[in-house]
Amino acid sequence: MKETNTSADFLLFYVNGKEIIERHAEPEWTLLWYLRNKLKLTGSKLGCGEGGCGACTVSISHCIDKNTGEIEHRTINGCLAPLCSVDGCHVITVEGLGSTNKSNLHSTQTRLAEFYASQCGFCTPGMVMSLYGTVTSKDASNLTMADIEESFDGNLCRCTGYRPILDAAKSFACDIDKFNAEKSSSPNTSTTFDKCASFLGQSIDQIPFPEKLRDHQPQSIQIKGSSMDWYRPITLTELIHLRQKYPGDESKLIFGNTRVQFERKVEQRTFPRLISITHVKELQEMKRTDDSIYLGAGVTFTRLKSQLMDWKDNPICHALLDQFKHFASTQIRNVASLGGHIIAALPK
Ligand SMILES: Cc1cc2nc3c(=O)[nH]c(=O)nc-3n(C[C@H](O)[C@H](O)[C@H](O)COP(=O)(O)OP(=O)(O)OC[C@H]3O[C@@H](n4cnc5c(N)ncnc54)[C@H](O)[C@@H]3O)c2cc1C
Ligand code: FES
Ligand code: FES
Repeated sequence: MKETNTSADFLLFYVNGKEIIERHAEPEWTLLWYLRNKLKLTGSKLGCGEGGCGACTVSISHCIDKNTGEIEHRTINGCLAPLCSVDGCHVITVEGLGSTNKSNLHSTQTRLAEFYASQCGFCTPGMVMSLYGTVTSKDASNLTMADIEESFDGNLCRCTGYRPILDAAKSFACDIDKFNAEKSSSPNTSTTFDKCASFLGQSIDQIPFPEKLRDHQPQSIQIKGSSMDWYRPITLTELIHLRQKYPGDESKLIFGNTRVQFERKVEQRTFPRLISITHVKELQEMKRTDDSIYLGAGVTFTRLKSQLMDWKDNPICHALLDQFKHFASTQIRNVASLGGHIIAALPK
């Protein structure tokens, strides 16, 4: 295995439409740290640093099928995502949507302002990004008020209160004009709700995906950091080889990093090498036979949810889908894997 000869030692990604080739990345750096400290994009905020508040929410997109050109868009917690994990992706921050300085605010931003949905503003960039991710998702034209409410499960606000935020967000729902306050079991006392219907059917801009990234060919990555190294194999053989070379505690597998980041930051654990397994195809498989369901350890909860929707005729799949309503948040489900979840749940 020619691990050292064929691996790249740099990252290529885009932030708000601009290409970045980073040759000095430290595997320690989170995406949020990099955005705020290196790129001086301080719109995304550091709140809890543990994936719980959503103040750091950004959107990342990458091409998942070169033949069809399909792009996957996800909102994620910048405080948990390693910078190294965004190689090949387009990162969009609140600055990339629009700014008051340039008078080019995105409709998600103006809508929050028009509904008075911000006070101190600390959570607002994260709210904007979650809303952007929802209203530009694949099923955006059919989004109901309930879908929109659910999509805010990863964002907290300490001061505004959720009603104006949700009213602003629900103004993008396709069923906003169907709500009948008189027939509703919960009386509507909102002063802004009536405004929602006036926005029905308005178009929503989506930030273009960089053409160059459509042809991006992911390659193996090996980055030597000052305290930790980063490996991203792209084949199963390469992964097996790396684990043979660095067995046990000499290396740590990571997928979404939602647990490992906590171990490093809160439990102060150190790992000499991280091996990111997000690009190993075999781990992404999902199959169904007459009497079984086969799920790869590298399937994220969001991909699983979408697959289970197609298998809803099976009562087990139906029951699993129900569980998702109570599981973590959109940003976490977008990156966390089944394998990581099982291992993270193991008693010490
Ligand atoms: C804000 C927040 C809310 C959460 N809410 C819930 C909740 O409501 N319910 C719940 O059950 N959980 C919850 N969790 C836990 C979450 O589900 C797990 O952190 C997540 O599933 C881990 O997946 P990951 O891909 O991020 O794992 P990582 O952090 O990347 O890895 C976790 C562990 O698994 C190992 N690992 C990863 N992939 C593999 C693999 N393929 N083979 C072998 N080992 C592997 C890693 O080495 C590591 O030890 C929450 C977590 C956060 C941060
Ligand atoms: S800072 Fe709270 S989720 Fe990232
Ligand atoms: S506006 Fe202050 S935290 Fe939400």
